[in-house]
Amino acid sequence: MNTEITIRRPDDWHLHLRDGAMLKGVLPETARHFARAIIMPNLVPPVVTGEQAGAYRERILAALPEGMAFEPLMTLYLTEGTEPADVAAAAASGLVKAVKLYPAGATTNSHSGVRDLAKVMPVLEKMAEIGLPLCTHGEVTTAEVDIFDREAVFIDTVLDPLRRRLPDLRVVMEHITTKEGVEYAAEGGETLGATITTHHLIINRNHILVGGIKPHYYCLPVAKREHHRLALRKAATSGSPRYFLGTDSAPHVDALKEHACGCAGCFTATNTMPLLAHVFEEEGALDKLEAFASLNGPAFYRLPVNEARMRLVKHEAAQVFPAKIFTEAGPVTVFDPGFPVHWAVEA
Ligand code: DOR
Ligand code: ZN
Repeated sequence: MNTEITIRRPDDWHLHLRDGAMLKGVLPETARHFARAIIMPNLVPPVVTGEQAGAYRERILAALPEGMAFEPLMTLYLTEGTEPADVAAAAASGLVKAVKLYPAGATTNSHSGVRDLAKVMPVLEKMAEIGLPLCTHGEVTTAEVDIFDREAVFIDTVLDPLRRRLPDLRVVMEHITTKEGVEYAAEGGETLGATITTHHLIINRNHILVGGIKPHYYCLPVAKREHHRLALRKAATSGSPRYFLGTDSAPHVDALKEHACGCAGCFTATNTMPLLAHVFEEEGALDKLEAFASLNGPAFYRLPVNEARMRLVKHEAAQVFPAKIFTEAGPVTVFDPGFPVHWAVEA
């Protein structure tokens, strides 16, 4: 039986670090295991310009504890006022690695997002020209579309027409949650990638709703039916270069999760790598974990792979992870997979 595995140090291709006290509290949880992460720009106010991204990057590095190494890969929040020249300059300087499309109203702090794609076409054309990836929150937000169908409708009505219009545009389908997402990414060729979160490999919609509402399992895109989860597992463990890890670890203090209008987000930074080892072992695919967590992402983003290694060991005893982390902004509940996990990251 395989009881340990060594892989290149992983990266997280979709991460929320927030700002201020929350940033200080959650950053070590990611930096402990991950070399780099694509940092989501949905702060209040959002990170829209290259200048704002540079300042945010400095705040992240200032919050990093002594002795920890971590490279934040910055993104810009696409708005209908975004200037193509500002995006191009931020990319050329090496500061910005992607631009994030939030359809207005899709999720946390997305009200400054895009209502009319025609208005951002000059930015997208510039991005296609310079090869800068567009990270998409792939959900339509129209009231008539059922929340469980938002991803599939986005693919048909927004993503596919966009990619036909700008075939050179490099796109990441962020946090795919459906069989349709898996299948679309599979056929997309080299200009298309898809991130998959840890939690969407573990929960389906029953976890959120059966036996009482479980707010810590509520995230966006919302977890779907079981057959979608199985499709995601198959994709993540396939070794295909289209799929890579983006945890979408999204901290909210417990008071805002356990609320009449609870925030969306699962906080998985603390235990993602042991959980992935568990999932990949269950799928008989431990040999594909490195591709998913450490190789496919850098290949898509045209960045070198990490030289450092990570060792994961499976122990006889179930491992104990903290139920919460305590930040100066308040307690944040760590994602609970609901089963015993025997894997741990060893130094
Ligand atoms: O669950 C989510 N939380 N999904 C998102 O798209 C945003 C994120 C957040 O920022 O809280
Ligand atoms: Zn996110």
